[in-house]
Amino acid sequence: MQKILVIHGPNLNLLGKRKTDIYGKFSLSAINKSIEDFAENKKINVKIVQFNNEGDIINAIHNANGYSGIIINPGAYTHYSLAIRDAIEGVDTPVVEVHLSNIYGRETFRSKSVIASVCVGQVTGFGWRSYLMAIEYFYEKEEVSEIQSTR
Ligand code: DQA
Repeated sequence: MQKILVIHGPNLNLLGKRKTDIYGKFSLSAINKSIEDFAENKKINVKIVQFNNEGDIINAIHNANGYSGIIINPGAYTHYSLAIRDAIEGVDTPVVEVHLSNIYGRETFRSKSVIASVCVGQVTGFGWRSYLMAIEYFYEKEEVSEIQSTR
């Protein structure tokens, strides 16, 4: 069974209360439940964590041995944390960057991601569905591709 680590970054614990016009009305636990249900349906095991500080995020990336992928929403760290960028670059685990909002349609400081170039790809702007799309990527990559290759 594939294991995926989902890392939510700073302030995402405030989802449902913080800027609901931009981030939506669902709480982090409601979003986590959707991620878990979606993953379970695809027989993917997910571990979900949330950290408000950079060091914990970096440690989680370093310690993700045994996971076939990481899905990360680095919050505002996206725009300036070279330390998170270097952590992602330093491990073999493939990482997908996700955002609830479309970071390219907001303030100009949000339209730069220092993380994106070391990630497999980025899903941005689909609200909580961005996480499911990233799960779908890992599912398709392992399971569906394998089934299709035997046809
Ligand atoms: C965010 C976008 C960031 O710019 C912001 O700082 C966040 C959330 C998103 O999911 O849309 O905290 O990562």
